[in-house]
Formats: sequence, structure tokens, C-alpha cells
Amino acid sequence: MTLLYRRYEKRLREMFPQAQLHRVEHHLTHAASAYYTSGFEKAIVITGDAWGDFVSTMVCLGEGKKMRAVHRSYYPNSLGHYYQSLTNWLGFRGGRHEGKILGLAAFGDPASPVYDEIKGLLVCEGLDVHAPYMMGKIWHKKMPFAKSSMMSKLVAKYKREDIAAAFQRRFEEVVTTLVKNAMERFKVDSFCLAGGIFANVKLNQRVFEVPGVKRVYIFPNMGDGGVCAGGALYYDINQNGSRGSALPHAYLGPDYTEKQMEKALRDKGVPFEYHKEIEVKVAELLTQNKVVARFNGAMEYGPRALGNRSMIARGRSRRSTAWLNDRLDRTEFMPFAPVTLMEEAPRCYKNLSGAEYPARFMTITFDCTDFMRTKSPAAVHVDNTARPQLIDEQSNASYYRILKEYYKLTGIPSIVNTSFNMHEEPIVCSPEDAIRAFQLGHLDYLALGPFLIKGQNQN
Ligand SMILES: [Fe+2]
Repeated sequence: MTLLYRRYEKRLREMFPQAQLHRVEHHLTHAASAYYTSGFEKAIVITGDAWGDFVSTMVCLGEGKKMRAVHRSYYPNSLGHYYQSLTNWLGFRGGRHEGKILGLAAFGDPASPVYDEIKGLLVCEGLDVHAPYMMGKIWHKKMPFAKSSMMSKLVAKYKREDIAAAFQRRFEEVVTTLVKNAMERFKVDSFCLAGGIFANVKLNQRVFEVPGVKRVYIFPNMGDGGVCAGGALYYDINQNGSRGSALPHAYLGPDYTEKQMEKALRDKGVPFEYHKEIEVKVAELLTQNKVVARFNGAMEYGPRALGNRSMIARGRSRRSTAWLNDRLDRTEFMPFAPVTLMEEAPRCYKNLSGAEYPARFMTITFDCTDFMRTKSPAAVHVDNTARPQLIDEQSNASYYRILKEYYKLTGIPSIVNTSFNMHEEPIVCSPEDAIRAFQLGHLDYLALGPFLIKGQNQN
């Protein structure tokens, strides 16, 4: 491994000869990404992934500018690998489709006999996470994940929904036990979370629901996409004395001017209309059950589309979103996520207080109210949860305006949102990407900045 690191270092020095190079441990970068953007003065930080620098789970304590590691669990005792292996066994791609397994789990019975068979695979003792049967990419001894093992028997015998539900339940139990044990030991009630396992929005809800936990925050780019920011923050704050601060929004990516958008449209010969108040027009189209691809402002940082590179639709019936899934060739078990006006959120979600901040970034689920269930059923999962984005005027004025106008017209403060991309392609970035994806997807409308483009299927 050292040899590999030397090779990386050599390459980096060639690429950036003027730059200083500092090493920061992988899980410390995850921890720093969450703690130094949380705005919390004191917090327990938990990171978890498949592995990084041989570590798979880390517990840190942060107070003021100082953050230090207090415990490490080492690979192969890995929460991330546990979930990845499950994802592969259920016929999906580990490391990529874990979100589908989470969606699937809600359709299963977490108390089915599968649970008793698998609960020994993952254990928490004190601050230590154990996966006693795991070794490298397979599982040793009883080999539950290898061929002719417990896992192949489970897959043959039980519904995959029940298997997913049992694994998700054990996953939640082990992480929440870790949270309880850390809280008991350090007497701190705020938690910051990062690392790929915290892309699991239901897990994050369970962490927040642990009795005694007052606040929770998940770094919006919780996977390895966030370690560059975390490494830079760690060094800057610890060595240069800078201060961290809460993230006001996640619109940190490339932005394009109106001129660039107009040029892209003209170059492609695409007819368009200019709307000074495009937000009003988009809200109107949503009430007519149209799906609108929206491209506006700076692109989102992290894995979630938060309105600027999104496809949006009304959430009044599951039919429109089923149609969209079909059109996009997606096999999602999770419904599309809602975006909700911040000031109306307590009417839609239960137990929000203390988790409004992560909910800006769509990183945590909540139980839904009857109002949400009846008014926006397309955004509510079969287990009655949703993973909303709460929007206020300061973080994204134009997107907020669409919601506000839609609310005026319908009395419903939520719409549904999914990432603007074609099947298995990355999310669109530039106006050219947006036009291409819009045309390939045969979508209803594209709102590109102030320009409205009608799909070929519209009169
Ligand atoms: Fe990682």
C-alpha cells in the first residue's frame, strides 16, 4: 500500500509542482467534511464506509476547532462492505445500487426468519463494529456470502424484500447501538455523519430517533466524492486556524450565463420562448401534470439533485412518477423525493426539529403526516416515509418561487424531484448536456434558465 501511496504522491507532484502536499487519513477527511460544515460547537462524529486506509468506521469528538479520532474499527469489519455484499447478492451492483436495496427493504418484513439467521453477521461492542465472518471480499468460516453458503440458501428460500429488510434492520441496530454507546461515553447529544453508509437515508432517520440525540447533520457529499473537501478543511482549520461554518446551500458547481444558454439553444436549432418569470410558468405547467426538466444556476455539489439539475413534477398521483420511471428506464423502489417549502414542512413531516438542516440536502427520511400522504402520495414510500429537500428563499430563490407559486395554485407545498439525467448517465452539467438529455428523454418541457422549450410530444 505504501508503494501505491508513493506512486500517487509522485503523480500529484508532477501534476501540481507548486502545491504543498499534506496527507490526511481517509476517515479523518470524512469526519472533517461533516464536522467543519455542521456549524455545531461540539459533536460526536461517526464515519463509515467499505474501507479507507484500512479503517471502516471511525468515531471522533469535535469541540470548537479541534476534532480528534477516539476510536477506529478496521477492515474487514465493515458496515459498508456488509451492505455492498448484500446488494450484489440481491442481483444489483454493489457500490452503486445500495439505494435500490434500501427502497426494496421497505416492502419486506424485518421480523421474518431471515433476521435470526443473519443478525450475527454484524455486531457492535462499545465503539467497535465487528463483522466476524468477513474476510476480504468474501466471508470466511461459514462463508455466508460465498457460493453454497448461508447467503445462497437465503436467496433461494426467501423473498428478496424480506432479505433486504432483515439486513437493513440489523444495519440500523448496529449503527444506532454505536451512537448510543458513544453518547453514553462522551455525554454529547449532537452527531455529524459522513462516509458512504450515510447515503442510507433511513439509517440517518434512525440515528436521529435515538433517545437523547438532539441534532444530526450529514455531509451532503457523504461518499468519497466528499473527501477532497474534508481533507482541505481538516488541514486549513487545524494548520491555518481558519474557522468552519455551516453550509448555506450545496449549489457549488459550474454555473452558466443566459448568453451561454441561448447560444446552446441557437447552435442546436431548438425553438424556445423567453419568460421573464419562468417560475410562474413552470408552476402552471406542473398543475397541468407536465414533467419539467429544470436547468438553472449553479450545479449541485454531491449526489443529490436539489432543483438546479432536476426533473420536477407534481406529486398528486403515483401515476405520473411511474410514467417518468418508465420513460427514464429506471428501476427504482424508492419513490421520487419531495421538495417542500421550509415554512410548511411541519405540516408534512413528523419529528423535524433538530434535523431541518440536513433536510435541506435530502439526506434523511421522516415519517409523513396524513396531509403529506393524501396531498403528495407520489413522494411517500410504502413505509410512510419521505426524504425531502426543504427549501427556503435564501438558499435558492428561483426554485423556492416555483414551489411558492405552485402552493398558491394548489394549496400543496411539495412537488417531486429527480435528477436530470438519462438512464445510467451522469447528471447533466452544461446547457448542451441539458438539451441533449431533454431531447433523448422525450420530456414534456425544459426550463433552461429563463428559456422554455416545448417537447415534441406537446401541442
Ligand atoms: Fe470513504
